[in-house]
Amino acid sequence: MRVIIEPDYEKLSLWAARYIARRMKEHERRGEKRPFVLGLPTGSSPLGTYRELIRLCRSGYISFRNIVTFNMDEYAGLPRDHEQSYWTFMHRNFFDHIDIEPENTNILDGNAADPDAECRRYEEKIASYGGIDLFLGGIGADGHIAFNEPFSSLSSRTRVKTLTYDTKVMNSRFFGGNISAVPSTALTVGVQTVMDAREVMILVNGHSKARALKHTVEDGVSQAWTCSALQMHPRSLIVCDEAACGELKVDTYKYFKDIEQANLDPSVL
Ligand code: GLP
Repeated sequence: MRVIIEPDYEKLSLWAARYIARRMKEHERRGEKRPFVLGLPTGSSPLGTYRELIRLCRSGYISFRNIVTFNMDEYAGLPRDHEQSYWTFMHRNFFDHIDIEPENTNILDGNAADPDAECRRYEEKIASYGGIDLFLGGIGADGHIAFNEPFSSLSSRTRVKTLTYDTKVMNSRFFGGNISAVPSTALTVGVQTVMDAREVMILVNGHSKARALKHTVEDGVSQAWTCSALQMHPRSLIVCDEAACGELKVDTYKYFKDIEQANLDPSVL
C-alpha cells in the first residue's frame, strides 16, 4: 500500500487527477484497443479531482473517448433525475464537462424492477470489459468504501445494502438536513468488486476521516473497517491530506513521507 500525503485538499486533488491522467496516457500510448476502465465515486472527496480532470480534458491533454466508467453505487428508489441521485451528481460534476461517450458511462439503476438482477448485470458488464483498471474511491468516516458499511463481507460483490444510521446522518447534509429523506438502501459494488480492480486509489481528506485512515493503514484487515481490505491489494494507493493524518502514529507518518519522497514525481504530467 502506498500512502501519499499532500499538504491540503487542493494538492491532493491535483496529485490524484494527474496520476489518473498519466495512467490514461500510458494506456493510450500502448495502443490498446480495449478501453481504459475507470471506477468512480461520488461524494465531496472527488470533486477537486474531477475539476482537474475536466481541466486536463479541456486543455486537450487527455481524452475520455476511449474510457469506460463504472460508478460505485447509487441510492435505491430515488428518481434518476433527482437532485441527489448519483446519476445527477456524476453528470453535473463530471460527465457533462468531458468528451466521454454517454454509452460508456455505467451507473447502477437504483429503480430497477429486480435489483438483484441489476447487480448481477453490473458485475457481468464489468467483466465483459476485462475488469476495472483503476478504481477511484472516497471513504466514509467509518471506513466504508462505496456503500460497504462496517461488517460488510470483504468478499462481497455488487448487491443491495442497507445504510447505517450514521451514514444517513452524514448524507442528510445533501437532503436539507432531513435524515428521513435519505434513502435507506443503495445498490453498491462489493468490497471484492473494488479489490478485483488492477489498481485502487482512495482519497482521504480532512480531520473527520483521520480515524478511518488510521484503521485503513495501521490496524489489521477487518470487516469492521471495510477499507482495510486494501492492505491485501497489490496496488492500492491512498492519497490523503495532512489533516487526515492526525490519528496516524508519528512513525507511520514519517515512513510514508520518507519512502514517497523518492517515489514522487511532483511534475507528474
Ligand atoms: C458516501 C459514498 C461513498 C463516499 C462517502 C464519503 O457514503 N457512498 O462512496 O466515499 O460517502 O463521502 P465524502 O467524500 O462526501 O466524505
